Amino acid sequence: MEQIKRTKIKDILASAEYEKTVNVKGWVRTRRGNKFVNFIALNDGSSIHNLQIVADVTQFDEELIKRITTGSAISVNGTLKESAGKGQSVEIQATEIEVVGDCNADEYPLQPKKHSLEFLREIAHLRFRTNTFGAIARVRHAMIFAVHSFFSEKGFLNIHTPIITASDAEGAGEMFKVTTMDINNAPKTEEGDVDYSKDFFGKATNLTVSGQLEGELAALAMSEIYTFGPTFRAENSNTTRHLAEFWMIEPEMAFYDLDDNMDLAEEFTKYLLNYALENCMEDLEFLSKRLQEEEKGKKAADQSMELIEKLRFVVDNDYIRLTYTEAIDILMQSKPHKKGKFQYELKGFGSDLQSEHERYLVEKHFKKPVILTDYPMSIKAFYMKQSDDGKTVKAMDVLFPQIGEIIGGSQREESYDKLLERMRAMDLPEEEMSWYLDTRKFGSVPHSGFGLGFERLMLFVTGMGNIRDVIPFPRTPNNAEF
Ligand code: 4AD
Ligand code: MG
Repeated sequence: MEQIKRTKIKDILASAEYEKTVNVKGWVRTRRGNKFVNFIALNDGSSIHNLQIVADVTQFDEELIKRITTGSAISVNGTLKESAGKGQSVEIQATEIEVVGDCNADEYPLQPKKHSLEFLREIAHLRFRTNTFGAIARVRHAMIFAVHSFFSEKGFLNIHTPIITASDAEGAGEMFKVTTMDINNAPKTEEGDVDYSKDFFGKATNLTVSGQLEGELAALAMSEIYTFGPTFRAENSNTTRHLAEFWMIEPEMAFYDLDDNMDLAEEFTKYLLNYALENCMEDLEFLSKRLQEEEKGKKAADQSMELIEKLRFVVDNDYIRLTYTEAIDILMQSKPHKKGKFQYELKGFGSDLQSEHERYLVEKHFKKPVILTDYPMSIKAFYMKQSDDGKTVKAMDVLFPQIGEIIGGSQREESYDKLLERMRAMDLPEEEMSWYLDTRKFGSVPHSGFGLGFERLMLFVTGMGNIRDVIPFPRTPNNAEF
């Protein structure tokens, strides 16, 4: 076969250099036709659209043509032609075809038909080859890129924080242990406890639940930083919005108060959605159709807003800002509360909001993203800035339709005494966290930050309903396949 430099299908589809000789490589989605001419739909991951290869089968070896099955990998030399068929503007008239990788058709689980998302989860090693997961992979890449460009444009530094830590940043105790000890035969102390001083790091360690604490150290010198890393939570929640391993973006800013923090969170999320609208339109159009198809059977009232319209709506409207206390008032007055329709009953100030409450506020009451602030101190992490009322903290959660909480953040307690007092009250290991407390002794300043759950953002942008479908290889209770 003649050696010609490969062109990606996305670029071929955008080209109008008719009669040019090109090479394309990719995986066959379908082959159809008759004994004179065959049409091969080829995809290489660069576009939601397939490239049509037209092969005059009388010019090719019959055995070669037979090997061009769904899932096989081929390399094609041919001429770029304006397409007469509907649905595409260009096609390739093949002159040479090579089967690079045969596909065992008896075993290949993907057929040129619609497969359920549940089935595709079981073959997650192959699901990149479907339109839906191809689109999600491209949008995910675009969102990663947009995160970095947003912060880079604003002069924030990207800081790598450790994945193995000895602290529990959120104080929620939902950590995966990291050890090299033989768990069946671990060294014990005289009291009979596991002796972590004999472990690899000389102390008990775990996978990080957040890069925030280290992020704060950097912000209190570099002013504005962000982390973007994997985060691990051993919470046993089998929901459509929880992963045991997810990616979080955590900006941390010196000299920001809670209002500045909210402004940044709103600007950031709008920037990301707008970036998707400007750069991922073909994939979004596909995902929008997929969602409409999926919701066909639903009552009109239960159907979600069309995907692209929904993204535009969020970009174009101000988020509602209100306090937790105001939200509780609205919820206590709401129909579902009065009729006992909420699964988790609210008991007034101090009740933790569940996703059903958050979604009521966002989807039914305000019909817009909402930022809730000033939560009760008792239900939030130790590091949040205490308010003068003695019972609330300068916390903020950003709530999105269909998702509920997409961002959690706060202004941080910058006073050494107040922070120490809170840590003692919550029984946190003061000595272990002396490095964190140090920042409050050496030039402490007001500062704030937040964490955006990257897969929650991906759910919103793609309109997918299950978080297992917006990360390539989901980790959830009882599932660490692939
Ligand atoms: O609200 P969280 O727990 O906040 C923190 O970890 C802070 N340290 C952030 C900060 O202030 N720097 O988590 C932040 C976000 C949540 O709003 C949610 O979007 C996401 O992380 N998140 C999860 N996403 C997927 N699966 C899980 N199990 C998640 N837990 C939290
Ligand atoms: Mg939270």
